[in-house]
Amino acid sequence: MNTIEQLSQTYDKKQPKLLEDYLTFLRFKSISADSEYREESQACADWLKAYLTQSGFQVEQWDTAGNPSLFASYHSSAKNAPTLLLYTHYDVQPIDPIELWESPPFEPLIKEGLVYARGAQDNKGQCFYTVAALKSLIEENGGLPIHIKLIIDGEEEIGSPGLTKLLQTKKEQLKADYVTIVDLGILGPDSPAVTLGCRGIITMDVIVQGTRGDLHSGSHGGVAFNPIHALIEILSKLRDPQGKVLVPGFYDDVAELSADERKLLALEFDQAQYKKEFGSEATGGEKQYTPFERAWLRPTLEINGIYGGYSGKGFKTVIPAVANAKISCRLVPNQVPSKIGQQVKQFIEKNTPSGVQVTVHVHEGGGPGIRTAPSSKIVQAFATAYGEVFKKPCQFILEGGSIPITNGLREASGGELAMMGFGLATDQIHAPNEHFSLDRLKQGFLTMARTIALLGENKS
Ligand code: BES
Ligand code: MN
Repeated sequence: MNTIEQLSQTYDKKQPKLLEDYLTFLRFKSISADSEYREESQACADWLKAYLTQSGFQVEQWDTAGNPSLFASYHSSAKNAPTLLLYTHYDVQPIDPIELWESPPFEPLIKEGLVYARGAQDNKGQCFYTVAALKSLIEENGGLPIHIKLIIDGEEEIGSPGLTKLLQTKKEQLKADYVTIVDLGILGPDSPAVTLGCRGIITMDVIVQGTRGDLHSGSHGGVAFNPIHALIEILSKLRDPQGKVLVPGFYDDVAELSADERKLLALEFDQAQYKKEFGSEATGGEKQYTPFERAWLRPTLEINGIYGGYSGKGFKTVIPAVANAKISCRLVPNQVPSKIGQQVKQFIEKNTPSGVQVTVHVHEGGGPGIRTAPSSKIVQAFATAYGEVFKKPCQFILEGGSIPITNGLREASGGELAMMGFGLATDQIHAPNEHFSLDRLKQGFLTMARTIALLGENKS
């Protein structure tokens, strides 16, 4: 019933209806960063809840101060069946800059095998093949070979503040033998890979205040302290020209990779390909490391935005009262997000020139760097399924991006962790014209369904 060939036939048979449902899912404007979209997000959760209920799941909505999470479970009638907890999210990133979208972000467009929409990949596409695989297995086999629990988060893109608070109280329900984060990627369209870890994150706002209000830059130029200049001075001290972060203690807790762990990873990097895909070579970060070492094994400090003063049309001669920057640090295992946040905050306060006021707000909702065990049953089951779907060996990678809830979910569930997905670096997630391919929607379905079948065959 559940070989790749059989699953592939099942998918092809169900594809028209599944595609229609996927497109319906993409039409909800479930942007978590903006509370204006609260109702649309609830409508999306309602749709998903009904879809999962129809598929045979018991579904609960878990309310938070923001968007709710959904918790769904399916009890297998198989003896000694293990429990797999799957995590995905239904919220999406904001759509700006809207003028750069070639088709409206919430009106999915299919062109040359690609589906264009906000969330097409991150994470509605990945959520959908997961749900579709479970639904189809239940329909075709009359049930599932293992117990399944499913969390669909409504706030991943803002660091999962609501779900994080619920983890302690929901421990009993979350209990599982295995937990899998379905929000990652593969190496290339024909290069299957399982992700053995991702980076953590901590974010902050920096606000530099000069005079009480904006001033005429003729009358006050050379007299008032311009906070944009103060901000530039501060920011320029954060890194040296070799890309090393100069905050004291920043690298103290970085865990080095063992030679054995390193051997497992596909670290080769193609600069020409990168330039072709993104328009520039990969030359950022710490110069003495290779690109994948910099993205996977090293922490970073990046400025994500700077604003202040006049940046509208034409020209305005003003000395602004305020200047702002947004900073994030990507972290590797053993670094503690809150500790790094405090180190950066103190460094900025110490390096602020006198004459302006600085405030650094370190945000809640960060998360630590993660590593999974490559030899675990769950990682091996996914690697086997990827290998069968692509008919070639599955590689192992790490990911530079972050899924902040991962560690909390692993601890609350007590399960062995795996991280998987079908994203590509070229999907333009978080950017205009985000897309996912119909091919990968199917491959995701097959890999998920096959992995569940394998876990069911090989119980312990
Ligand atoms: N799916 C991404 C993480 C990711 C990015 C995986 C690239 C694979 C490749 C996830 O939804 C995400 O974007 N997380 C945010 C978290 C942040 C907003 C707290 C991130 O990494 O920026
Ligand atoms: Mn994302």
